[in-house]
Amino acid sequence: MTKIFSTQKQPENGTKYAAGVIRSGGLVAFPTETVYGLGANGLDGEAVKRIFEAKGRPQDNPLILHVARKNDVRELWTSVPERAKLLMDAFWPGPLTLIFNKSSAVPDEVTCGLDTVAVRMSENKTALCLIRAAGVPIAAPSANLSGKPSPTTAQHVIDDLWGKADVILDGGPCRFGVESTVLLLTGVPTILRPGAVTKEMIEAVIGETRLSKSILQPLGEGERAASPGMKYKHYAPEAEVIIAEGDAKTAAGIIRREYDGMTQSGKRCIILTSEENYTFYKGRHYDIIGSRRDERTLCAALFSKLREYSDTVDVIFTEAVPPDGYGLAYMNRLLRAAGFRTVSE
Ligand code: TXA
Ligand code: MG
Repeated sequence: MTKIFSTQKQPENGTKYAAGVIRSGGLVAFPTETVYGLGANGLDGEAVKRIFEAKGRPQDNPLILHVARKNDVRELWTSVPERAKLLMDAFWPGPLTLIFNKSSAVPDEVTCGLDTVAVRMSENKTALCLIRAAGVPIAAPSANLSGKPSPTTAQHVIDDLWGKADVILDGGPCRFGVESTVLLLTGVPTILRPGAVTKEMIEAVIGETRLSKSILQPLGEGERAASPGMKYKHYAPEAEVIIAEGDAKTAAGIIRREYDGMTQSGKRCIILTSEENYTFYKGRHYDIIGSRRDERTLCAALFSKLREYSDTVDVIFTEAVPPDGYGLAYMNRLLRAAGFRTVSE
C-alpha cells in the first residue's frame, strides 16, 4: 500500500517515516522545485533497481543523486573542480544538476555503468528534510511512468505510481514545472538538458558553455547521446502534439487552418495558447497556458496541460517560442512531446 503525507503546511511532515523507508530499501516520491522525484537510497544498488522497475525505465538511462549539503559531492565525485564550486555557490540549492567523474562510493546501478555521476541539491524544503533524515544521497528520476510527461503535482504521481511507490509526499504543485538544467563538467562545460538555470546564467559564472546538439533535434541514426535520456521519446501524452512555427501571428494562422481541417474530419482538438494570442482562436476550443512574454509561465504549466488533455482530445496544437533563455527549456520539452512534429508556412 502507498502511504501519502501532505507536506504543504509542514515541510517535514512524514519525512522521518519516509526516511526510514529509504533506509530500508523502499521508494519515496517527493516534491522538488522542478518536478516530483521517485527516490531510493543512492548508495544501495538493489534499492535503485526498484526505481527502474517501477517506472519501466530503460536500463541505460542514469539517475541523478540528490544531496542536502554542497559538501556531500566530495564523497560522490573523484574531486570537486573549481568550476563546480563556483556554480554550487551561485545556484545551489536550485534547479541545476552537475555531472563529474564518479567515486567508487556510487553504485553502477545509479550511473548505468558510466564513469560520471549527476548530482543536484534541490531547494525544496521537504526534499531537503527527507535527504537529511535519510542520511544518504537519494537517487531520483522524475516520478512518472517512463515516456509520460513529468509529474508536477502529487495527483500526477498517484496516477502513474500508485501501489508502486511506498510513500508519496505531497508538497503541492512544483514551482518551475520542468526538470533541472543538466550540465556536464568533464571537458568544455556542456548543457545536456536546458532548464531554469539558463546558458546565459551559467556563462556569467564560468564563461564559455556549450549546448548539446540533441537539445533541439532528434538524434541521427547510430548517433550517441551525450545524455542517454535524450534519445528516448519523452513527455508524450496519448494525443498527437503538433507545434506551429513562426512568430505569434504566423503560428496562429497555421493552427487555425490545421485545426479547422482536422475538426471537420471528426478529430477532437485543443489549442494550447498564450495570454497574448488567444484572441486569434475565437470560436475554437483553446486553453491559455501562460504568457509568451515570460516563458517560465509556459514551462510551469506545460506538463500539467499535456496530461490534462492526454486522452480527452486527439490533437493538441501548440505555438513555438524563440528557443533562447527559458524558451529553450520549453522548446526542448515541447519538441519531444510532439515527436519533433512541426508545421511551418
Ligand atoms: O529536476 C530534475 O532533474 C528531476 C528532479 C526529480 O530532481 N529529475 C530528473 O531526473 O529529471 P531524470 O532521471 O528524469 O532525468 C535525468 C537526466 C536524464 O536525461 C539522464 O540521461 C541524465 O540526466 N543523466 C544522468 N546522469 C548522467 C550522466 N552521468 N551522464 C549524462 N547524462 C546523465
Ligand atoms: Mg524524467
